[in-house]
Amino acid sequence: MTNTASSASPQGSATTNVSEGWRARDQRSVSGAYSRYTDLVIEDGEGSFLIDVEGRRYLDFGCGIAVTSLGYRHPDVTRAIHQQVDSYWHTSVVTQHVRLTEAAEKVASICPDPLDTVFFANSGAEVVEGALKLARQATHRQGIIAFTGGFHGRTFGALSVTTSKVHYREHYSPLLPGVYTTPYPYCFRKCDHGPQEPCPIAMGEELEKLFRHIVPADEVAAMLVEPIQGEGGYIVPPKGFLATLRRICDQHGIVLIFDEVQSGVGHTGRWLASEHDQVVPDVVTLAKALGSGLPIGAIVARHDLMDKWPAGTHGTTFGGNAISCAAAIATIEVIERDGLLQRATEIGARIQERAQGWQKQVGGPADVRGRGAMIGLEFMDSAGLPDAERVDAIRAACLQSGLLVLGCGLDDNVIRLVPPLTLSDPELEQGLDILEGAVLHGGARA
Ligand SMILES: Cc1ncc(COP(=O)(O)O)c(C=O)c1O
Repeated sequence: MTNTASSASPQGSATTNVSEGWRARDQRSVSGAYSRYTDLVIEDGEGSFLIDVEGRRYLDFGCGIAVTSLGYRHPDVTRAIHQQVDSYWHTSVVTQHVRLTEAAEKVASICPDPLDTVFFANSGAEVVEGALKLARQATHRQGIIAFTGGFHGRTFGALSVTTSKVHYREHYSPLLPGVYTTPYPYCFRKCDHGPQEPCPIAMGEELEKLFRHIVPADEVAAMLVEPIQGEGGYIVPPKGFLATLRRICDQHGIVLIFDEVQSGVGHTGRWLASEHDQVVPDVVTLAKALGSGLPIGAIVARHDLMDKWPAGTHGTTFGGNAISCAAAIATIEVIERDGLLQRATEIGARIQERAQGWQKQVGGPADVRGRGAMIGLEFMDSAGLPDAERVDAIRAACLQSGLLVLGCGLDDNVIRLVPPLTLSDPELEQGLDILEGAVLHGGARA
């Protein structure tokens, strides 16, 4: 099969023997715990495309779950990694090393004042764990408040604050004690108020009840929240919600942690999604897009708060690895140099424009939401119930036409769109044409 540099190739015509062979090998040797979004067998990536073992190209609007914001093998990130590989790779905490110091300065530079001090780890779950530990150390309190539908990772601490699906939690109890879950303002589905009325959850009513009936506020160390819920369904809370949390945390001396592992590093058109609301947390966690695919996560906090974490009370062997740090520095530099925050806003506006057109037609999404190039399309059936089957069918139709899109949502009924910020206009239109065909015509038009 011949492929042009910029086009997606549909599935079906080529033989699948090569993929089948790899799938069989995978089944024999790889844990079944991986729940993969597709059965694609990938061996290459280039720009906005993934390429499978049969040479088929897939335009990727999922970015390896919101990670490869610069596409695959961005030349500047690739160069930075190569240069670092030719220097040193690893020192751990045996020494200070220059790339880590540089990466910390770079990460602090994209966070709002006064967040200026960084601890690096390897993944989203690890930085969530670390942030919760920091809050307990700093306050000498135990309680942790998390929000229904949140996803924060799979390790025990992160899992204890994750409530997007019971499947992630079943058979793992007992989880971390001292975690209190309170509703997230998911107004499209979960709130009773009218569309123009203020949301009581966003105004803090549920938190007040929590403090009155369940846990005293002065026993709470941390409040952990995603400024946009990711796995929960790309849910944008109403304006004022984050400011309410800020006010409540200030009032009670609670460490406010924004988990921006999925929403941070540019996809929303700002470095942090929380910047849209002009609310600054005490701690922010970043990972996913930070290293363009190399494992790195960051806990960013004010210096005085970080100073309450005594040396050696937290640590890591691999966190802040030199190659991951080089990738993070290059990723941030490319986003800055190429104006990709602005590009995220443009991509998102175009997606919203087209998706809102589909909303008016039979079978279109019931809700279109998001910030910048982080967009959720929520599908409901004719009875007004979440329509996961529809989302599966749309994703399958897209894949047949060479477009990779991911689902998410508490009921798996949301298509999430997080295309690379390096996407060209023709690639964007190509992807949206395929998606439109899948949404409105069951894939026939694609
Ligand atoms: C908001 C958020 N926090 C934490 C995590 C966990 O990240 P990781 O899978 O790198 O451990 C995720 C992963 O999807 C996430 O979306």
